[in-house]
Amino acid sequence: MASARTARPRLDGERLRAFQTRLLRWFRKNGRDLPWRRTRDPYRILVSEVMLQQTQVERVQDYYARFLREYPTVRDLAAAHPARVRESWEGLGYYARARNLQAAARAIATRHGGEFPRRLEEVLALPGVGRYTAGAVVSFAYGEAAPILDTNVRRVLTRLFVRRRPAGAAKLDRRLWVLAEAVIPPGRVWEFNQGLMDFGATVCTARKPKCSTCPLRSLCAFYQRANDSRGTPA
Ligand code: ADE
Repeated sequence: MASARTARPRLDGERLRAFQTRLLRWFRKNGRDLPWRRTRDPYRILVSEVMLQQTQVERVQDYYARFLREYPTVRDLAAAHPARVRESWEGLGYYARARNLQAAARAIATRHGGEFPRRLEEVLALPGVGRYTAGAVVSFAYGEAAPILDTNVRRVLTRLFVRRRPAGAAKLDRRLWVLAEAVIPPGRVWEFNQGLMDFGATVCTARKPKCSTCPLRSLCAFYQRANDSRGTPA
């Protein structure tokens, strides 16, 4: 168990609000128009998130529409022959994802009468659904203030807020989950979580982050550290 001291993020209110406002403004101007952002159907969002786990956005776009034409509802996917589902997944690779996705659809059919569950814990209990995916589904479909922490979000939050990495990956992980929840602006979780992902994918990239045009750089621990020691990091 994390002690309250290790888990509590230190965020002063003004800096937090500046981060939220600037990220939301950045997303309004620069957010990508992606097919799974035009729906609030939790099943469709789950399909997109599972596809995006190991596959690039551009590639997923082609498969997403086709898969949903074949299995437009969770009941259709639950009832399909597994061999046909595997065939529909052909080209995306990592077939365990397709198996898990169908197992999740079947669990929804049997445990929830075919109605997609609403609560984070229920979504998390579905086969193949981890904390990130469950958070993505409930925040994007229902506007629940659930945190998400994928590779991109992890990098953005670490750079912005983690001045000293705690010893041990588990401790950092706990801190980042707490932080990812603490930074969500009330009532704006959809655009904030989508924005964090896009920001990490296009500005705060792993290699060559675009610090010189970043709207968050005056708030950023990574930028300040790099600037203090050797000039601009980008
Ligand atoms: N990667 C995972 N989920 C995503 C989403 N909703 N939008 C863009 N990239 C993603």
